[in-house]
Amino acid sequence: MLLGGTTEASQLARALAEAEVDAVFSYAGRTAAPVAQPLPTRVGGFGGVAGLRDWLQVQRITQVVDATHPFAAQMSSNAVHACAAAGVPLLAFERPAWQPQAGDRWQCVADIDGAVAALAPTPARVFLAIGRQNLLSFAPSAQCASHHYLLRLVDAVADLPLPSAQVVIARGPFTVEGDRALLQQHGITHLVAKNAGGSGAAAKLEAARLLGLPVILIDRPAVPARRMAATVEQVMAWLGHHGGAAGNAERGV
Ligand SMILES: NC(=O)c1ccc[n+]([C@@H]2O[C@H](COP(=O)([O-])OP(=O)(O)OC[C@H]3O[C@@H](n4cnc5c(N)ncnc54)[C@H](OP(=O)(O)O)[C@@H]3O)[C@@H](O)[C@H]2O)c1
Repeated sequence: MLLGGTTEASQLARALAEAEVDAVFSYAGRTAAPVAQPLPTRVGGFGGVAGLRDWLQVQRITQVVDATHPFAAQMSSNAVHACAAAGVPLLAFERPAWQPQAGDRWQCVADIDGAVAALAPTPARVFLAIGRQNLLSFAPSAQCASHHYLLRLVDAVADLPLPSAQVVIARGPFTVEGDRALLQQHGITHLVAKNAGGSGAAAKLEAARLLGLPVILIDRPAVPARRMAATVEQVMAWLGHHGGAAGNAERGV
């Protein structure tokens, strides 16, 4: 069973389909039109650790690959505990965190509250590239200036908690040229982003570097220790090692 929701999960799904691995892809169901996958797909939560443990057993899952976003810490933590309870091997497929390069003006913060605190007290024009969760934390308060926000979201949001915000509906991967133009068109002075890693969302950081803009980068949340892979090839090798390749009678991933 492949826990998805990332570019890397989609890459892995293609490799699994090509290798004819008996696999099921799992989406949380956060977006209205998720990317179609070349694997049987299920959508929605499992009902916490116990729900996932039961689901793994009922579906006779023999291996789980967690390729969720590095900030999907609840799902990843649940996978660690449910796989342990069900006796199912788990591999996390996670891209490395982004590292600063010469010319970057990064301020790394521990969490969303740290990003709110790091924004200058004087009103700024902020590209708030954190998705739609946690937007409420950036609403103006007595202690905090009223910033103008640019949001880039996959789906439109009906009730934005931010009084001064503009929304661009778009789905990655994005280009440096496109993101540089976006930052310039909107007169952006600050970028706030999660340290997601990977290539699909990195363009905004390079664009900020080219424009000399400050970046407030949110560190990844903690997840219990688990076995890790960084490439599709490593995941496929692990599956082969555990006998999850084509022809296995049980459902592999
Ligand atoms: N967080 C981000 O910044 C971000 C960015 C891009 C994509 N995503 C993707 O969006 C999804 C949700 O992210 P999140 O931050 O809301 O996760 P989360 O807080 O870690 O998960 C909350 C709950 O959503 C359900 N869930 C999450 N991922 C699932 C999956 N792949 N299949 C089935 N159920 C799933 C689980 O519900 P139950 O407890 O009921 O099982 C989980 O406990 C993830 O799949 C992630 O890969 C997240």
